[in-house]
Amino acid sequence: MSQSEAAPFWEQGNLAPVQEEITAFDLPVEGAIPPELRGLYARNGANPRQGHAGHWFMGDGMVHGVSLRDGRAEWYRNRWVRTPRFAGAPRKPGDIRSGTANTNVIAHAGRIMALVEVALPMLMSRELETLGFDDYDGKLNTAFTAHPKICPLTGELHFFGYGHQPPYLTYHAVDASGRLMRSQPIPVKGPTMVHDFAITSGHIVLMDPPVVFDKASAQRGTMPFAWSDDYGARLGVLPRGAGVEALRWVEVEPCYVYHVANAFEEADGTIVLDVAWYREHWRGGPSSTSFDNAVLKRWRVAPGASRAEEQFLDDRSIEFPRVNDQLAGSPHAVVYAVETNDDIAAARYSSVVKYDLTSGKTARHDFETGLPSEFTYVPAADGRAEDDGWLIGFVYDRARHASDLVILDAQRIEAKPIARIGLPVRVPQGFHGNWMPDA
Ligand SMILES: [Fe+2]
Repeated sequence: MSQSEAAPFWEQGNLAPVQEEITAFDLPVEGAIPPELRGLYARNGANPRQGHAGHWFMGDGMVHGVSLRDGRAEWYRNRWVRTPRFAGAPRKPGDIRSGTANTNVIAHAGRIMALVEVALPMLMSRELETLGFDDYDGKLNTAFTAHPKICPLTGELHFFGYGHQPPYLTYHAVDASGRLMRSQPIPVKGPTMVHDFAITSGHIVLMDPPVVFDKASAQRGTMPFAWSDDYGARLGVLPRGAGVEALRWVEVEPCYVYHVANAFEEADGTIVLDVAWYREHWRGGPSSTSFDNAVLKRWRVAPGASRAEEQFLDDRSIEFPRVNDQLAGSPHAVVYAVETNDDIAAARYSSVVKYDLTSGKTARHDFETGLPSEFTYVPAADGRAEDDGWLIGFVYDRARHASDLVILDAQRIEAKPIARIGLPVRVPQGFHGNWMPDA
């Protein structure tokens, strides 16, 4: 097979989809699952039903879940999200009921939602059956980002939607009971790919990045975006609850950011964001053979400043930055991430890294021949320190050709996992997951 005929990277190695839906009970455990972990770990990812998709990001969503109870791994299930697209409906760009629901899965106000940034949320049961779209009683008329933020201070869910038609970007907020209470168009210059945003105790921060709608990429059937040298990059800072006239734009060096680890405000009102930062992304459009690398960077936006201060926090390649979500919008000292490398098909992921931003020290857990996906922080119920809890995520075991759900002690991530739950099948490298404790 010549290089040009090689399968795209998302069909190779552990990025390749699985074709069966499995239910397995009473999974084998090496080590001990903390008994207080009662709930569901669920993680979403792209898993094309037909084995082909125009891009890694375009496959049908499949959620993988493991239910933990009383120190046991009760069950594992993997289920495709039953979207209209999964059922065979044609792709309709711009239609918020046409999406793959493949990027994240979250719980808010008693609802479990599978999310992709171009469509409405898709509700799921705890057993991962698809229940249908949620449009918040008909009030939500834009797409819903895959990276909403739950404010731990108010229980509110903050999110945005973007689209190809004006208004290109809209900010929304849902109250703690699940009622859509605010929708606010945000004026931007054009349609760009906006993957994430940030909240602080007093503000929301939106990104306006230079990866813009690209007709040529759309016509190739891949993600319809490409890098622009002209668009520039800005952050939109808006006081929570204020009208759009209070929106302030702040310049940053042109770059792309999928993921914000967290943001917070310092005593003098400076807003700090820690992000996984790409120097540029998708010049000429998305590639089928490679993916760019990001590093951890800090933006600081002083009160009244028109430009952010920028500081690299480290030089290793990482993605999937996460913090203790109890600190979403509040100061954090610890960031967890997955280390990445250039060989995306064979071994893009190798270890989980923990940054202690106070001491400047890092710790890592090297899975050697295992491939970790995103790791999510789960706080201990009586935890006092920011890192008093666990990290949980799937690791593909090449030797077994199957995956484990691995639980690490977040205070000693380099140590042997405290539990490895053996799954009977492989979980492909996917996107985002969350721990959903039982009520
Ligand atoms: Fe993401």
